[in-house]
Amino acid sequence: MQKDFFNFQAQTTQFAAGFEIDRAEGSYIYGKNGKKYLDFVAGVSANTLGHSHPKIISAIKNQADKYLHVMVYGEYAQENPVELCRLLAESTPEPLEVTYLVNSGAEAIDGALKLAKRFTGREEIISFHNAYHGNTHGALSVSGNEYHKREFRPLLPLVEFINFNEEKDLEKITKKTACVILETIQGAAGFLLPEENYLKKLKNKCEEIGALLILDEIQPGFGRTGKLFAFEHYGIVPDILVMGKGMGGGVPVGAFMSSREIMESLSHSPKLGHITTFGGNPLIAAASLATLKEVLESNLMNEISEKEQLFRSLLVHPKIKNINGKGLMLAVNLGNPDFTLEVAKRCMENGLIVFWQLYKNEFLRISPPLNISKDEIKQGCEIILKVLDGM
Ligand SMILES: Cc1ncc(COP(=O)(O)O)c(C=O)c1O
Repeated sequence: MQKDFFNFQAQTTQFAAGFEIDRAEGSYIYGKNGKKYLDFVAGVSANTLGHSHPKIISAIKNQADKYLHVMVYGEYAQENPVELCRLLAESTPEPLEVTYLVNSGAEAIDGALKLAKRFTGREEIISFHNAYHGNTHGALSVSGNEYHKREFRPLLPLVEFINFNEEKDLEKITKKTACVILETIQGAAGFLLPEENYLKKLKNKCEEIGALLILDEIQPGFGRTGKLFAFEHYGIVPDILVMGKGMGGGVPVGAFMSSREIMESLSHSPKLGHITTFGGNPLIAAASLATLKEVLESNLMNEISEKEQLFRSLLVHPKIKNINGKGLMLAVNLGNPDFTLEVAKRCMENGLIVFWQLYKNEFLRISPPLNISKDEIKQGCEIILKVLDGM
């Protein structure tokens, strides 16, 4: 299988692991080599409830027994997507109310940008250096890493980049700005948190000038920081909230959410302001709804802070410089990209899956399933410490 993987499945790097998967359950992935691996990455923040959670599997099976795809997005009323959108409205603060379901995080970002331009009638977009918003042309245009963009120009025009947490840069938001888009916690840059009151100042500036604030919560979304969405820690509400990854619990999904007034502008002049065939697919919505219900109804979000503290108390080593992040999105600074890649490789050899941050390879990524047990956290951290000792 590995040979066919390298020969026939398009590669995105020249150094993919090609790890052959047999099955996955809970916090573990089982390889075809007969070994099991503790998963500290959770499909890069996607597997909120670990692998093959029984409630997600059963929701998918129930829907599969009834029907699969019946119509393009937005035409028919179907139980799972409707219930998912209703529960999202109930679980988020006003004025967030209406959700547009799409296929991926990047598509949700594109939809959110279009919505902001359409609603404000303005053309300019402000984004952030070191932001990562996905890889469609639109999402790449607002991502802030030159290495990943250079070869794909021309991208969207009229996008300006400012520095995260730099108050002075807020002056660049003007009456021409349709929207300001940012990750509540910058992911690829190493899980950087907004500083005290930064988001409040940004939101005030947007309000004053009539620009919409778009928050990309594709990674913190569905409970990873101990709140359903990370913005809830910072006393603000975005005009448009973007989610993906963890909202699906392991299926491909994305969504953007806003007030009814804003979202309505996608339905006229022109009608069909965003079109998608599979957005709101009933099978995907079943998985997402099961994930949302479990995150809301269980005690998982209350346990996040304790689990974060456990990671922080265990991961103490002379080779660890500091740990960024919040909740179960943690980035361990090992100071050097090559060293970090080698640590990840050796952890894998010892039965632990860890990864690195997209732009800042010196950071080891830790984003396990939210329902990982304390024993599993201890076992995984022991492996990391043992690997570091041996280097
Ligand atoms: C913050 C953020 N935004 C957007 C995306 C894009 O999501 P997708 O890969 O589903 O298109 C990602 C994916 O890693 C992400 O982490």
